[in-house]
Formats: sequence, structure tokens, C-alpha cells
Amino acid sequence: MKKILFAASEGYPFIKTGGLADVVGSLPKYIDKEYFDVRVIIPKYSCMKQEMKDKLQYVTHFYMDYNWQKLYVGILEAIVDGVHYYFIDNESYFSGFSVYTDDPRYEIERYAFFSKAVLSALPILGFRPDVIHCHDWQTGLIPVYLKERFQGDLFFRGIKSVITIHNLKFQGKWDVKTVQSITGLPSYYFTPDKLEAYKDANLLKGGIVFADAVTTVSDTYAEEIKTAFYGEGLDGLLRARSKDLRGIVNGIDYEEFNPETDPHIVKPYNAINFRKEKCKNKRALQQELGLREDDKKMMIGIVSRLTDQKGLDLIAYVMDELCQDDIQLVVLGTGESRYENMFRHFDWKYGDKVSANIYYSDALSHKIYASCDAFLMPSLFEPCGLSQLMALRYGTVPIVRETGGLKDTVSAYNEYEGTGTGFSFANYNAHEMLATIRYAEHIYYDRKREWNKIIDRGMAADFSWGVSAKKYQEMYDWLIGY
Ligand code: GLC
Repeated sequence: MKKILFAASEGYPFIKTGGLADVVGSLPKYIDKEYFDVRVIIPKYSCMKQEMKDKLQYVTHFYMDYNWQKLYVGILEAIVDGVHYYFIDNESYFSGFSVYTDDPRYEIERYAFFSKAVLSALPILGFRPDVIHCHDWQTGLIPVYLKERFQGDLFFRGIKSVITIHNLKFQGKWDVKTVQSITGLPSYYFTPDKLEAYKDANLLKGGIVFADAVTTVSDTYAEEIKTAFYGEGLDGLLRARSKDLRGIVNGIDYEEFNPETDPHIVKPYNAINFRKEKCKNKRALQQELGLREDDKKMMIGIVSRLTDQKGLDLIAYVMDELCQDDIQLVVLGTGESRYENMFRHFDWKYGDKVSANIYYSDALSHKIYASCDAFLMPSLFEPCGLSQLMALRYGTVPIVRETGGLKDTVSAYNEYEGTGTGFSFANYNAHEMLATIRYAEHIYYDRKREWNKIIDRGMAADFSWGVSAKKYQEMYDWLIGY
């Protein structure tokens, strides 16, 4: 049995702020249990829901040298859906009201602590993974610590590591002196061939340099990040490591997201009966959100973190024009206040057409996927994107910009060949987006049979984890050596 340990800053259903949690929470379920023992380790946050905290069992604790102190490291565990989770507990680092703070120096201190604690916990748990699978900058120091300080120890010798980049924008950077002092790494690590980038210490860079393999969450993003535009300053390094860098597209949990069995929606439906049944969900949502009740109105959904990445400035730019059209727009999510306020403003201005829900709710997100006719995602960049996959699964037609995973998972409607699962545009341009939305409106209102065939093809597409989980397994096998 090969042993794999996922290390990450979040994992659904325990704690989630974004797509990372969905991937960490669902991929382990789809790795073949006959050959792999996959476990997951994340911090124990005080802001986890009480019902999830209630599932945690104390295992043990120890004290670890870190940042010039001896710090408490508690270990807890839980098994959900057959996946074995461990939690690293330290009251002072993980007891805030939210998962992340807005103090970048402190974030580095917290997650470098987590990274070191993960490795220190393994001998105590008696769990020696063959591969540690790290996710994003928060775990970037694991491959670094693993290669150097821990390799002297027989227990750690030969453990392989892989890092998956879910978002290159976040790298965990701070000045070298501070990071060196916090992490206790010797000064020769802080050179441009190791942790240093543009004079700062960079934890993600450390992970990319020291991991045995690097992956990201779609093929297109794997190519994009080797260019200056998407590379966030690390494109040179990624080009240099391109031999060890591959894209494996994310899947979604097809049990969690299933319009036939979804407990959150009023009217279940499937690929056969959506023509009749899906709009009943729309009616219920219109009622719930105070929109004009009309089965025939084209309803467009947005479920997103409200950040620059998601292309919301394009929407802001043409929102007044878009609201002249015969559509409804439903938004769910939180983020930067300028976008929160922008959507609140248009909700106020076009009350029966626009519904801005500036919070997050799993239940409402499922209702939006089930009720809307189209789903808008004009991202500036998108490593994979999961919402468009959820939309496809629910027969909701994605309208996306052709970048990263959006390009790989949504194929553009071609009216001459009768192909495609959604609508897309290439340039980061508000009117190009608007024209694409209007083309979708035209097909929706004037060529309904064609529209429904787009849905047929979207619902038939398979973005469950099956194929991608196999690719991860192959990579683990290759790293471990048969
Ligand atoms: C990040 C990316 C998103 C990706 C997710 C899971 O949230 O922004 O594109 O789908 O990670 O990999």
C-alpha cells in the first residue's frame, strides 16, 4: 500500500474559503483505496463550524522549536467519507475569526509553523508517507524542510514531495531576514536559485524548487504560467522546471453536485427531464430572492470570490448596459468591498432584475447552479475554476473567458456545426464579454432547441474525478518508483 499525505491550508467539509478546499476535500475520495492510503492534514481552525469541530478526536501533542520558542503542537483526527484527516492545533496561530488574516508577515509565520509541524508530527503518528502532496504557498516550505533538515533522519529519507499550484498569484513573500529568523532555515537557502525571488523570501518558490514534481490544475494554466503575463514573476523558474511541471485538470464531486439528488434544490432533475423540470427551480429562486417571477426570463448566475481574478471589473464596466437587456442576474459571494458595493448598488438600482447576495452559502450556491440558465465567469486568469464544472453538471450554460481551466473545460458553441457546451470570448474586454452574453441571449430566446442541445452536451460531459485521479495516481507511482 502506497501512502500519500495531502497537506493544505483548507479542506472541505471542515473549512473552505475557495476551490482549494473543494479539491483537497474531494480528490482523496477518488484515489484508488486498494493501492493508496491517502490522508489529509490541515490546521485546526477555531472558526470551523461547531458540528465539524465535534467530529475531531484528540490524538497527541508535543512541543516544537519554532521562531525562537518552544511551541505547542496538538494533533487531532477525524474520518469523513472514508478519508482520514489530521489537524494541527495551536491556539495562538489558528484561533482567529477567519481562516486567513490580512497580515502577510503573520501568514508566513503561521503556515511555516504548520509546514514544520506537519513533518514533525509524522514520526509521532507513525505514519510515513511515500509522497507528501503539498498545495499552494502555505505548504511550500514542506519540500524545503523535507529535503534538508529532515533528510538526515532515517524516517524521512526517501519521502517524495509534489506541489500543486492552485493559484500562482499568492506566493507567501516577505523580507529575507524576517523569514529566515522565523523559519530557522540557514542563510544559504535565501539565494535566487532557492527561496529568494526579487530580493524577498518566497515560500511558493521554495516549494517549486525543492519539490520532486510540480503540478497545476489545468493544461492551459500550466502553459500560461510559463509566460510573463500569467507567470507572476516566477515564469522563468517554471520554464526551467517545465520538464517536471504538468497540468491535471480538477474534477468535482459528482455525488455532492448532482441535480438528481441535491437536497438543497426544490425540484430534482436530470439530463432527460431538465427541459420541463429545471425551470421550477428558477421560479422558486425568483420567489426566494424577490425577482420577477417568470419562467421564461433568462437568468444568469455568478458564484464567486469577489476578487480581481474573476474579471468583475469587466462586469462593472457594462453592468448598466447589461441591465437594459431582458435578463436577471443573481450574484453570490464575498470579497473586495468595491465589488461587493458595485453589486449592491445594481441590486438597489434594478431590484426586480438583480439580486446581490453578499455572503456565502452552500445551499444558495446549489440553488443558483440549478436555477440559472447561464453562468458567467469572465476571469482575468483561472487556474482551473470549479464553478463552470458545477454549472455544466446542472445544465447551466457557462459563459467564460478563454483562459486557464475555463478554456480546457468549456467548448464554445458553434452554430454551424452544432457543437459546444457554452459561450466564450478571448480578450479581456468588457464589450467583447457583453457581445458574447448577448449572443447567448439570442440563442436562448430565439433558438431554444439549439440552447437545449447545448445543455444536452454540457450535461453529458464528464468532469468527475475519474480521469484526473488516475493521472495523480500515475504521478505518485512514478515518483515512488514501482
Ligand atoms: C484556486 C483557483 C481556481 C481553482 C481552485 C482549485 O481557487 O483560483 O481556479 O479551480 O484553486 O484548484
